Amino acid sequence: MNTASSGDQSTEAVSSTKGFGGLRVAAFEARFANEMARLISNHGGQPFVAPSMAEVPLEQNVSAFEFADRLLRGELRVVIFLTGVGTRALFKVMETRHPREQIVAALSGSTVVARGPKPVAALRSFGVPISLAVPEPNTWRELLETLDASEQCPALNRLTVAVQEYGVPNSELIQGLRKRGAEVLQVPVYRWTLPEDTSPLKQAIENVILGNCEVALFTNAMQASHLFQIAVQMGVSERLREALSRVVVASVGPLSSQALRELGVSVDLEPQHPKMGQLVAEAADQAQALLARKRTSGARHRVEVSLSVQASGVEADEKFLDKLESSAFMRACRRLPADYTPIWLMRQAGRYMPEYREIRAKNSFLDLCKNSDLAAEVAVTAAHRLGVDAAIIFADILLIVEPMGLGLRFEKGDGPSIEGMIRTHADVGRLREVEPEESLSYVFDAVRKTRAGLRPDIPLIGFAGAPFTLASYIVEGGASKNYRHTKALMYREPSAWHDMMASIARSLVKYLNGQIAAGAQALQLFDSWVGCLSPDDYREFVLPHTRQVIEGVKPGVPVINFSTGTSSYLELVREAGGDVIGVDWRVDLGDAWSRIGFDKGIQGNLDPLILFADPATIREKARQLLEKAARRPGYIFNLGHGILPETPVDHVLALVDAVHEMSQR
Ligand code: CP3
Repeated sequence: MNTASSGDQSTEAVSSTKGFGGLRVAAFEARFANEMARLISNHGGQPFVAPSMAEVPLEQNVSAFEFADRLLRGELRVVIFLTGVGTRALFKVMETRHPREQIVAALSGSTVVARGPKPVAALRSFGVPISLAVPEPNTWRELLETLDASEQCPALNRLTVAVQEYGVPNSELIQGLRKRGAEVLQVPVYRWTLPEDTSPLKQAIENVILGNCEVALFTNAMQASHLFQIAVQMGVSERLREALSRVVVASVGPLSSQALRELGVSVDLEPQHPKMGQLVAEAADQAQALLARKRTSGARHRVEVSLSVQASGVEADEKFLDKLESSAFMRACRRLPADYTPIWLMRQAGRYMPEYREIRAKNSFLDLCKNSDLAAEVAVTAAHRLGVDAAIIFADILLIVEPMGLGLRFEKGDGPSIEGMIRTHADVGRLREVEPEESLSYVFDAVRKTRAGLRPDIPLIGFAGAPFTLASYIVEGGASKNYRHTKALMYREPSAWHDMMASIARSLVKYLNGQIAAGAQALQLFDSWVGCLSPDDYREFVLPHTRQVIEGVKPGVPVINFSTGTSSYLELVREAGGDVIGVDWRVDLGDAWSRIGFDKGIQGNLDPLILFADPATIREKARQLLEKAARRPGYIFNLGHGILPETPVDHVLALVDAVHEMSQR
């Protein structure tokens, strides 16, 4: 491998067992490109340094000038400096128009907050008195805590707070300040743009994709974003992201790690101190072990997707796969930014649609599920007609109970009924484990036909009932108000309960993987009735089994873990697993997401009854939800539960349009 930016190859002949041990190491540092190449060589690696940034002329920093004007007019009561480099850059820009003494005098009249040692050092070098210094680890959390603890905070209300930004804006911080009533002035300082010559970056991207690189080092937050900008231009961003999952990714500190994660790249290593030398040293120490671990677990989703699409009979060329993977829905599942917020609706194919009623008039519900041509037609028609961003296969969570050895009937008006209920340990013993390739092959046929009938940019969601919700049906024999028999079995015969749940979970894993093999791009587990349990009972009687199912799903295929009534223990639902957590409307979406954690996606949670309001109200409610999701990547718009049969189709269409329109980036 050649070294794009460094002529210093003299240290390359290092023993192949030391440090990097000859691994090929890509880095994106610009200012200290030569030093970086030397450090990598010194630690036994083969460097490829592709500078990812170039300096921007000072006079282009319009927002920095606006900041200076408002500062000098005394309008900024609090000024937050986030980075040392950004602070210096901001001063450099302002000093092209105003003398330093004036700037320092104006800042002395404001509350000056420094996020960490670097902005502290920068401010000191300019002689700016620092009012508040944020303690380690210097994230937005400590920053807000510091403000809250100081006397300044109550006074934040209705004050203008300026935030010096550098690279990726810190949305959590901005939101936190706004929550406290502040008017926030974001002051992005652009010191760096893409380099004029992007060929080294392109070469680096190619190396990573072709597997000619084992380690990637990121030394600031902007490098990842620039790298992906170029990858997008080359049309290979998805491949780059996937290839990076096989590479040891080391990031200098929390900000650059966050930027990487927002782009869907997971970070394997962050050094103890955010310094370039430390980064290289620690990466060299750990790279071989990390790499070995990655190679055994391996992210193989692209291969899986390719195989599953091939299985559906559709020609699985690169373009087709890229279309699916770059769809707003798949990107949200992977928490990647998308052009707009994707939306689909639970029970989107159903009785509220005239097209469905027409087909249903001639077929019983079960016949419809078992006729793969009709099932595919219903699913495809619903998705295309509504203009939603994902289709869901047409089936039912209860189909699986038949091959378990139970009878299933859907009676008009009464909902489903199941014969041969499971109530005792002996009953559990006769529950059969499902071999879906034989007994549920009609579902797999429907998946294949649906995939083939869908537009290539619309991902197909496969689904199943989660173990508890299925258990509730097979124990009660149908719908239930208080789940008396289910809970009686759970409390009286816990070992029978666990045997039953484990058996259901094993069947579900085979069934769901079969759906993937037939052409589903993502999965949803419906735990519609699990909210009848207390948190402790969920943890003991449900969580391990749901987790078993999710962990059994082929890696790389996103799983949406949906439940209702679980607002009081969403943390446990998260623990059960899933890439995206589906929530109902009984919880505030913003609160839910912060409790679940922003490292998961979220789906939901409009009350389905809102679709009975007028379109203007529907639009306003949708707007409020989008606001709660705060444009974070990883949000999938949906209802909090299925559409009701009486819902006006026009209102559903109005909702889909409103979400698309209001969420355009
Ligand atoms: O677009 C889609 O989402 C269609 C696929 C789908 C159906 N059921 C078709 C269906 C899905 C994803 C389901 C899931 C399902 N089924 C759940 C979980 C979701 C939820 O709403 O909680 C549950 C609990 C079931 C069990 C079930 N199936 C019930 C309770 C009923 C009767 C009540 C009702 O809504 O009619 C069904 C029947 C059913 N499943 C219908 C459809 C379109 C209606 C059948 C008909 O046409 O008469």
